[in-house]
Amino acid sequence: QQESTWWRGAVIYQIYPRSFYDANQDGIGDLPGITQQLPYVAALGVDAIWLSPFFKSPMKDFGYDVSDYRDVDPLFGTLDDFKQLVQVAHELGLKVMIDQVLSHTSDEHAWFQESRVSRDNPKSDWYVWADPKPDGTPPNNWLSIFGGCAWQWESRRQQYYLHNFLVSQPDLNFHNPEVVEHLLDTVKFWLDLGVDGFRLDTVNFYMHDRQLRDNPGLSAGDSKSLGVPGTNPYSMQKHQYDISQPENLGFLKKLRALLDQYDDITTVGEIGDDNPLALMAQYTADNDKLHMAYTFDLLNIHRKPDYLASVIEKIEGAINDGWACWALSNHDVVRCITRWGAEEADQVAYGKVLLALVTSLRGSVCLYQGEELGLPEADIPFEKIQDPYGIPFWPEYKGRDGCRTPMPWVGDEGNAGFSSAEPWLPVDPRHNSLAVDKQEQQSDSMLAHYRTYLRWRKQFAVLVDGELSDVQSNAQGLRFVRYNDEQRLLVAFNLSDSDMTISLPEGNWQALEGHGFAFRLENGSVTLPPYQAAFATT
Ligand code: NOJ
Ligand code: CA
Repeated sequence: QQESTWWRGAVIYQIYPRSFYDANQDGIGDLPGITQQLPYVAALGVDAIWLSPFFKSPMKDFGYDVSDYRDVDPLFGTLDDFKQLVQVAHELGLKVMIDQVLSHTSDEHAWFQESRVSRDNPKSDWYVWADPKPDGTPPNNWLSIFGGCAWQWESRRQQYYLHNFLVSQPDLNFHNPEVVEHLLDTVKFWLDLGVDGFRLDTVNFYMHDRQLRDNPGLSAGDSKSLGVPGTNPYSMQKHQYDISQPENLGFLKKLRALLDQYDDITTVGEIGDDNPLALMAQYTADNDKLHMAYTFDLLNIHRKPDYLASVIEKIEGAINDGWACWALSNHDVVRCITRWGAEEADQVAYGKVLLALVTSLRGSVCLYQGEELGLPEADIPFEKIQDPYGIPFWPEYKGRDGCRTPMPWVGDEGNAGFSSAEPWLPVDPRHNSLAVDKQEQQSDSMLAHYRTYLRWRKQFAVLVDGELSDVQSNAQGLRFVRYNDEQRLLVAFNLSDSDMTISLPEGNWQALEGHGFAFRLENGSVTLPPYQAAFATT
């Protein structure tokens, strides 16, 4: 049978279940709520959904702390609700990808409950346990991504355990084959329920250095990590020994061997590292590990065209037969149009050109719920902050609640139609006028543009399988070419609020229409009004 590569160039819509739609009106989004809104998602013209975790969890990290990998948290519904969701999605032609948080569990997981009580129980080696130094201090200098020391004392064992994130997210010991076997078994559980793929949380954090060597400090010239999860914004260390260990590749191959027993499965790994693009290339190379991976390179604060051009060129230089998955927004970062600093009046136009940009790159794309509405980051006062990561670094870093507020469905209803109960995070009043029902009535809305543009894009195979060349940027924007044996497609983007002109590569370029943008092709150059994209072919 011919291997299907539906995921290449696919547009994946990320759903954050807590905040999508609340079907049972308790203030928290749920699986039946998602199922109810799937026709809306399908109408966007996306190929797949990625559901953030809905598994049993004490919700200290809102589901990224799993206490039972094989069940649905009652807050979100039941396993039957999940089966129903998969069925409806498939009827609508949507693939279903789910999150797998394999690197760590919740401290309430039965495995950890057992592991923590003694040094000789059957699960004693399932987590990363280490003796203190002779003076009682932690075994090494590793730091948690969420701040502070990565080691937590357990008096019953007189040992420390490793946690790369919250204290309540103990790190599983991937050097233990029994752990690996059990994790692969949970992946199989979901494959047997008919899911089409997985988003793999912190995919480069699985293995740690067995010798527990100290991480080196940063030296002059090392770039400091950016304020995004996956790389501690205030870390003064290089991640040499705590993450991204070579043994990780072995695990990824085992996982892939399992996935290859099923048809058309895909994976997208989340990579947070000091050198993420190289790791993305390595993890997706040779068709025997991950299918795709994403990094935080476009999820950080740099919006400058020359920075974008440099990321594109860097990945083109490294990726070979690997595959990127690009994202501008997700549940971990400030919503893109706010983060990249568009003036309020320009935000809709800016969001439109960003969609064109991210879907023209070589790779696949993750869109985050609400991006299609042009939602700005919500303002949340400190008293209402839920994200544990938001608290230690406040106010320099305000955490991730501002991108996790409820989807606005009906502008004139309470809580923007998300729920009749008070939602777990407040709806930002600026989101009411951007609600789905309002935008459906406006032909030039962001939502209308997403629908038109994503359909239009589908006719270009070159945007899926084409190579990328001729990257050029100026102070306002950038352009590049996608090409295959059949076609050359020029794309240009003006990210600024004034007209931009950029030169064209050699060729007899003909303007394309139907994408919803305005531009003028001239002799050897193209001129774009503010926040417009241009498409031309030879
Ligand atoms: C990355 C997830 O995207 C983030 O939300 C979570 O807090 C950490 N991994 C820890 O699981
Ligand atoms: Ca609910």
